[in-house]
Amino acid sequence: THYTTILVEKRGRVGWITLNRPEALNALNAASVAEIVDAAKAFDDDAEVGAIVLTGSDRAFAAGADIKEMADKQYVDMFLNDPFASWGDFGKLRTPVIAAVAGYALGGGCELAMMCDIILAADTAKFGQPEINLGVIPGIGGTQRLPRAVGKYKAAELVLTGRTMGAEEAERAGLVSRVVPAGELLEEAARVAETIAAKSLPVVYAAKHALQAAQETTLEEGLRFEKQAFAATFALDDQTEGMAAFRGKRAAEFTHR
Ligand code: HXC
Repeated sequence: THYTTILVEKRGRVGWITLNRPEALNALNAASVAEIVDAAKAFDDDAEVGAIVLTGSDRAFAAGADIKEMADKQYVDMFLNDPFASWGDFGKLRTPVIAAVAGYALGGGCELAMMCDIILAADTAKFGQPEINLGVIPGIGGTQRLPRAVGKYKAAELVLTGRTMGAEEAERAGLVSRVVPAGELLEEAARVAETIAAKSLPVVYAAKHALQAAQETTLEEGLRFEKQAFAATFALDDQTEGMAAFRGKRAAEFTHR
């Protein structure tokens, strides 16, 4: 497949998706949404891929949805032909996705990062939901995922004022997993992705699903889900191998079975 708005590469067991619309600070238009979702699904279907890294450029992860593409839309266009409808499929990926964020992650860019499992931020990263300045509100999860990540009061201040926050504040607020020096961002993202990709794939899927349940359901339901998923890991060869390796004082060799 050849893409026009992203670069895609498989390095070992890690799938890389790099947003590549430098002329628009990686603003997300209909084409880039379709391509990101398509590439991510292809990696998700590839049993050789154990983790996905999603990144942008030094200047911008993504500066939001493409304002030039949206400007002339009407209510009915957004309602009937929502250009972001397929993001739902991005949220259904089984493979962990690591957002490696440098520069701007604003509006839809911040929302895209929040759809990932891990957010690594360069010290240059800037997060925000500036939609209110454009006369709209976040439309792909910002009003729902941001409060879950940073709490009601921080989220309300960001969404209602449209201000941007830096990497350090974002880490303090719980929006990012970790901040690293900008020059080390991709190296660190590769390290995290390779670490995950070396684990048992079905066990990683189970862990991701259980973590997702924590965001989506009640504690009672989530605990029930976790107990089932935990028990199910005992049906895998990789549980036998993992525990045998521990007892044998050697590294586990998972077969993803
Ligand atoms: C389209 C964009 C863009 C965007 C930047 N560009 N952001 N084009 N959509 N979201 C373009 C600019 O028009 C410009 O191209 C080029 O990228 C470089 O941007 P500059 O503004 O010249 O750069 P700079 O002065 O460094 O300012 C960077 C910035 C600013 C602070 C990030 O670009 C900015 O405020 N962008 C918009 C951020 C935003 O409001 N995002 C939320 C979008 S709404 P030209 O060719 O014009 O020079 C959203 C809704 C999601 O995301 C929900 C949808 C359902």
